[in-house]
Amino acid sequence: MVEVRDSFGRTFKTLRVSLINTCNLGCVYCTYGNEELKENYRSAKENSLSAAALSQLISQLHHTLNLDTIRFTGGEPLLYKELPELVRLVSSFGVQNLKLTTNGLLLEGLAPRLKDAGINSINVSLDAIDEDVFFRMSRRSGINRIFAGIDAAQKAGIDVKINSVMMKGLNDSQILPLVNYAFSKGLTIRFLEIMAMGHLYGNADSRFLSQEEILSAIAKQYEFERLPRKSSSTANYWMTSEGNKFGVVANESEPFCSDCNRLRLDSYGNIYGCLSSNHPISIKETSGDELISRLSEALKQKQALRFAGSELSMMHIGG
Ligand code: GTP
Ligand code: 5AD
Repeated sequence: MVEVRDSFGRTFKTLRVSLINTCNLGCVYCTYGNEELKENYRSAKENSLSAAALSQLISQLHHTLNLDTIRFTGGEPLLYKELPELVRLVSSFGVQNLKLTTNGLLLEGLAPRLKDAGINSINVSLDAIDEDVFFRMSRRSGINRIFAGIDAAQKAGIDVKINSVMMKGLNDSQILPLVNYAFSKGLTIRFLEIMAMGHLYGNADSRFLSQEEILSAIAKQYEFERLPRKSSSTANYWMTSEGNKFGVVANESEPFCSDCNRLRLDSYGNIYGCLSSNHPISIKETSGDELISRLSEALKQKQALRFAGSELSMMHIGG
């Protein structure tokens, strides 16, 4: 095992694997604007790797880095046809936490198979409770399928959290309905400050809702206390007086780059040291010292203190 570490002491312990860069929702923060017109290094120029080939790369990364968490993302990762097979293969490597971030639309049917394959935690993106607001955010109807997916995942024994991206004037009316829904199901919910990505790059301010504003909205109905922040966590967490937990991923208000432990891999065999990186580093057919050298290169992509946005939409690298 080799320590690949930067001057901040940061290393890679969490791997986020983006399996596909398409999605079955058309959320306003991802898909508006002229994504196609921008040169996009992360777009599919070839087919995604098979589960066998991808698991081979993940295995090599695990042997080099001794990963403790792997999170599958997208685009929408449930659209990757071989997902249960991939999870099963990766599960045999003995990584402690196998997680998934999904929009939940296809979760109802897949949840038991994903649990059997080894997934122990799922974050479901859900930006509204009201069907009309959900449509305004995602350009799709069918919120009930997401509720059913969440129920199925809980029933299968998977730990579920909700991610709600907040946009001023679009879905901020949904904060308390989302909190009430999550608490009624015994779920932790996190509100995500909007990040200036894709068409929002340099253009997100009018839609930005801060951690402070989110907390004020929740304070109208709940009393809560802040919990200590765990190292490398994306989220700040609070506990209500009734014992329900909620969080905020406060990318702008409280940047969390300085103890970032995340490495990203796309399904074409490229690694990225940061969400904002536009420079893929291929690790296909790479091992030993060459792999370590490419990981060190990826580590240099990390931002010193804060994430300043990116022209790429989250759809291409899964957050
Ligand atoms: P947990 O392990 O459950 O805490 O999940 P997570 O928050 O690490 O992952 P998730 O996929 O749920 O992402 C939640 C939010 O955190 C999304 O908006 C991501 O874009 C954001 N996020 C994840 N990693 C990073 C990062 O390295 N930098 C920044 N700025 N945001 C990140
Ligand atoms: N800002 C903040 N969160 C975002 N997500 C997607 N795009 C953005 C953005 N621009 C969320 C998704 C998912 C998580 C990976 O990131 O909804 O929950």
